[in-house]
Amino acid sequence: MSFRVNAWTEWGKLKTIVVGKADNAAFQPEEPGYKGKINNPLIAQEINWPVGKKKQSVIDAANEQLDNLSHTLTSLGIKVLRPTPIDFSQNIKTPGWEVSNMFCCVCPRDVMITIGNYVIEATMSKRGRFFEYLSYRDIIYCLWHDSHMKWKTAPKPSMNINMYWEGYWSKFEGFDSKSNEEKHQILHNYQYVLNESEIAFDAADITKMGQDIFIQHSMTTNLKGIEWLRRELDQHVKIHVLNFPYDKEPSHIDCTLVPLRPPKNNIKGVILTNPERPLLEKDKIFFEKNNWQLIDSPLPNKINSQMPSFCSSSKWLSMNLLSIDENTLIVEENETELHSLLRSLEFELIKVPYRKVFEFGGSIHCSTCDIEREDTNESFFQTN
Ligand code: NVA
Repeated sequence: MSFRVNAWTEWGKLKTIVVGKADNAAFQPEEPGYKGKINNPLIAQEINWPVGKKKQSVIDAANEQLDNLSHTLTSLGIKVLRPTPIDFSQNIKTPGWEVSNMFCCVCPRDVMITIGNYVIEATMSKRGRFFEYLSYRDIIYCLWHDSHMKWKTAPKPSMNINMYWEGYWSKFEGFDSKSNEEKHQILHNYQYVLNESEIAFDAADITKMGQDIFIQHSMTTNLKGIEWLRRELDQHVKIHVLNFPYDKEPSHIDCTLVPLRPPKNNIKGVILTNPERPLLEKDKIFFEKNNWQLIDSPLPNKINSQMPSFCSSSKWLSMNLLSIDENTLIVEENETELHSLLRSLEFELIKVPYRKVFEFGGSIHCSTCDIEREDTNESFFQTN
């Protein structure tokens, strides 16, 4: 197979993509940047957040849905690349810290991103994910055969204790009984678990819209990380920083702001937004005056709102869909309310089962990483 590395948007016609694998997956270890929460209160009473390898039956069930997605993409004529899983149950150690095990290679979206002909490996922000990039190196060396491809690895942070603000986890104690004013103050000071001592970002905090890319300041991406991206890429793209002040634990933008198609011939572009995580007014105005329509996603379907016991993502995985082109989307099969909305916007839908993948870090968008789309670095934002 030959590849061309080129992807500027979330919606250009998809030609090549990476789909993750669940083999050898382990429970994401607790550490300064991550606390596991068991969603089922009965199980949570009995056990702490587990360590080590996940049950083989759970891994097999996720792999069945990941393989089905791969086959669906292949049947559409899209080239699919798969990672090389390492043994994620291994303990890992650097001079500054040690964790009981790693996580998995289900979510390439977090680890790498294609911007134009660049493939960028993120620093990552959590210790358990420090070595995850190793699973994608076979793919990156394949892509290296495209002589136009450029490969950047962001500076690896130490992930030592002084990179994290441990007080973060107690910040929300008694939150629900606080006044609205106190709640707003806590939510709007944008102080997350990563401090600014080192460059850190997960690639899934980025969404691409041609010449403009939008990066969420979050639990997994600090301002230094965004500044590193800006300095590396400012010849090619304009970087915008977004904050979603009502998201208590922002991490990865693809359940919060999901661009679907660009404005064309006086018809507005479409961005799916999260009704519980509104944009700041200034950002909302910016999108709207550039001819983008912001459309709130419906509430997630009841079946998916009850998240699997060991899933760390929110019910808004409902929005974590993948564009095949400007008119076609791959969506989770249970999200019927979202299906109706998208059909009313004249999208064609391809439905896949994906719930078994949720506890491995995300849904359809998270577990993929587009390598080639038929698109350019066109500007879709003429007005500041
Ligand atoms: N952390 C976000 C995005 C996950 C892909 C959420 O749970 O909504």
